[in-house]
Amino acid sequence: MPDTRTTIVVGVTGGIAAYKTCELVRALVRDGFRVKVVMTEAATRFVSPLTFRTLSAEPVAVSLWADEPDAKVHHVSLAEEADVMVIAPCTANVIAKIAHGRTDDMLTATVLATEAPLIVAPAMNVHMWRKDVTQRNVAALKARGAVIVEPGRGELACGDVGEGRLAPVEEIAEAVRTAATRSRDLVGKHVLVTAGGTHEPIDPVRFIGNHSSGKTGFAIAEEAARRGARVFLVTGPTHLPDPFGCEVVRVQTALQMRAAVLARADACDLIVMSAAVADFRPAAAASEKIKKADAPGAISLERNPDILAELGSRGGKAVLVGFAAETSDVEANAKTKLEAKGCDMIVANDVSDPELGFGTEDNRVLLVSRDGVERLGMMPKKQIAREILNRAAALLGSERAR
Ligand code: PMT
Repeated sequence: MPDTRTTIVVGVTGGIAAYKTCELVRALVRDGFRVKVVMTEAATRFVSPLTFRTLSAEPVAVSLWADEPDAKVHHVSLAEEADVMVIAPCTANVIAKIAHGRTDDMLTATVLATEAPLIVAPAMNVHMWRKDVTQRNVAALKARGAVIVEPGRGELACGDVGEGRLAPVEEIAEAVRTAATRSRDLVGKHVLVTAGGTHEPIDPVRFIGNHSSGKTGFAIAEEAARRGARVFLVTGPTHLPDPFGCEVVRVQTALQMRAAVLARADACDLIVMSAAVADFRPAAAASEKIKKADAPGAISLERNPDILAELGSRGGKAVLVGFAAETSDVEANAKTKLEAKGCDMIVANDVSDPELGFGTEDNRVLLVSRDGVERLGMMPKKQIAREILNRAAALLGSERAR
């Protein structure tokens, strides 16, 4: 019988705090998780693989080159088995390696190969932790969606005092439990996400468009798929590759996006409309490239349908999350859109700030619902995706009035 328990892959790197990972493994095993440990060679100098093998009752992986009895590529099979991966302690060296996609040992190869949520609990000397390069590497991991369990302050093994101590084991275990619960909370659900901006043709080579990169919608779709949903991603033109595990429909115009959304909406439990849909399109697109000499003095425009408002007015079983891109009175305008478009939640952002919204890695959003307004701080779009889905998952199955 296959083991159907949630699998936590625990990575251990070469720091003195590795002895505390024994307690982490014990706590996770007690929680009923299946725990598989992967160690760097350096970690084995602090704690023996036998210790982790005994605590987890599972083989411990150290070498990329070990002979696997079932002839599987071990770092890939381990990566696929992981529902959550946690690295504790994580040294500055391993943070740097995984931030740059290096894979010269079993642990780093598993990190690159896995699609599971990644939790990193750094531990190191205070000066190493504070260095710009380390902070940049940590920021790169956060931007990719990793959860960082920040190190604490105190006396360090080297004798220095400051931040760099491994966070308390219970805090790391709690981060794992949260990720493990969330990691599968959308199993059996159908989720539709729109992303990117639409291109409204003027002629075969010119269009009216906007600066949406698709990053926000792609992050939401990827996170929903990771949490077990069947995900339809309807996206305007973008250079981003298809996110793992999503059924992607690529469209150009608002009318095409509407058709793709309406064809799937009835089957969905959750719809998140992050796309920047053009409100207007040229009334007549020229079939040939317009010559300079024939340039019209003006382009007459026609209104595009409002897809979100149409979904809202139809009712339906799906939890409906809209976005609002505002340049002033963000909260008031978001509240108006919540009602006018019949949504359960509006994710509002201030796009007058060039550091926010369109095309950026990070954003600052307000979550507006009938329960009130929640302000999220500046954070990577992948983290925003998690926060949106946490709220939306809570709305699924709850009584809603809209
Ligand atoms: O893609 P990124 O570079 O990551 O940028 C993210 C973003 C800035 C595009 C995103 O955060 C965002 O704000 N998306 C909504 C953009 C927008 O069109 O906002 P709006 O206030 O004009 O529209 C409100 C809502 O109605 C949106 O959910 C929109 O998808 C929807 N809409 C709008 C017009 C229309 N004709 N049909 C629609 O469904």
